[in-house]
Amino acid sequence: MIREPFYDPKKSYEENYENGPFGAFKDPKKYENTGEPEYDFLGNKVYLPFGIPAGPLLNGRFVKAALDSGFDIAVYKTVRTQAYPCNAFPNVVAVDLNGDLTLEQAKNGIISKDSYEAPLSITNSFGVPSFDAQIWQKDLAEAVAHAGNSQVVVGSFQGTKKGDGDVDAFVADFVLAARLVKETGAKILEVNFSCPNEGTAHLMCFDVAMVRRTSEAIKNEIGNTPLVIKIAYYENQEALEKLIQDVGNIVDGISAINTIGSAVRNEKGEQALPGEGRLVSGVCGESIKWAGLDMTGRLKNLREELGMKFTIVGVGGVSSADDFKKYREAGADAVMSATGAMWNPMLAQEIKKV
Ligand SMILES: Cc1cc2nc3c(=O)[nH]c(=O)nc-3n(C[C@H](O)[C@H](O)[C@H](O)COP(=O)(O)O)c2cc1C
Repeated sequence: MIREPFYDPKKSYEENYENGPFGAFKDPKKYENTGEPEYDFLGNKVYLPFGIPAGPLLNGRFVKAALDSGFDIAVYKTVRTQAYPCNAFPNVVAVDLNGDLTLEQAKNGIISKDSYEAPLSITNSFGVPSFDAQIWQKDLAEAVAHAGNSQVVVGSFQGTKKGDGDVDAFVADFVLAARLVKETGAKILEVNFSCPNEGTAHLMCFDVAMVRRTSEAIKNEIGNTPLVIKIAYYENQEALEKLIQDVGNIVDGISAINTIGSAVRNEKGEQALPGEGRLVSGVCGESIKWAGLDMTGRLKNLREELGMKFTIVGVGGVSSADDFKKYREAGADAVMSATGAMWNPMLAQEIKKV
């Protein structure tokens, strides 16, 4: 169902940050669960292993509204160790896709549109903006403290590459970010290895050696605090198997997928998002559900084959109770919705009713 979104795509990121959330998240009535929480998510009891992944929850007010609205897992938008600017407006645009976004179609490019209707797919392009750590640390700590007994706030972060390409410094920045997030009291940390806007043609999650090195360094820093890695869709099964072999016993959870990149133009054939390096941006929503479900199933099979224990977080195109069920059946321990939840802030309550 499409309702008034809690992030307003017609407003800038800054306006959303300052004045949001909107729609049913503006002044949510606290959802009261009944019975006992039956599920465990990385050592935390939850009523339903369902939440909002990194991105749409821009700050503590958004996180609190999500928790109060019945989303038991809320991921605070990915932060960096230092302030970082947001890409130019617009940052969220609807795309004209009715069925699946195949990898072939993603390579050929897609068309944007003005209306947000079901089945909804969008492109988003923020560039992972961040405030200075002292600002988000205080805000995140308050959001963490707001979680009820059977809810959990996840702190998402990533490192920032310096111009000189110093790999040691890049890894050290991931480790510092992890430490700063852990200091807020967040019980679960998530590292974003799948940001399509890091200025590299290749996402970090496809560089298995770097994923391993960085994950190990982060785990050395945060000890027993669970670490989830966020990865993109892997087309190649051998490459996915190599990744899982190398990191499946280091990390505590794997969240997949992030968006699928595609060139986005308007009906006139012009670049839809203004600025250099923004022709290709990440597509999310209904049209990538097939990819999220596919990855969930493959991760489950690999976990079994390799006798591993990592938690699987299924993400991509979830907008209904039926989608939640499909992900659970495919092997997801927890399920998350970004686009679907943005346009339906009542989604967790609707799933809980089923
Ligand atoms: C507005 C928006 C902002 C996002 N920002 C981030 C982010 O900061 N970090 C991240 O790991 N993923 C980010 N994502 C990706 C989502 O977490 C998710 O992986 C992706 O949107 C697929 O899920 P969906 O089909 O339910 O939207 C963002 C998504 C949206 C819609």
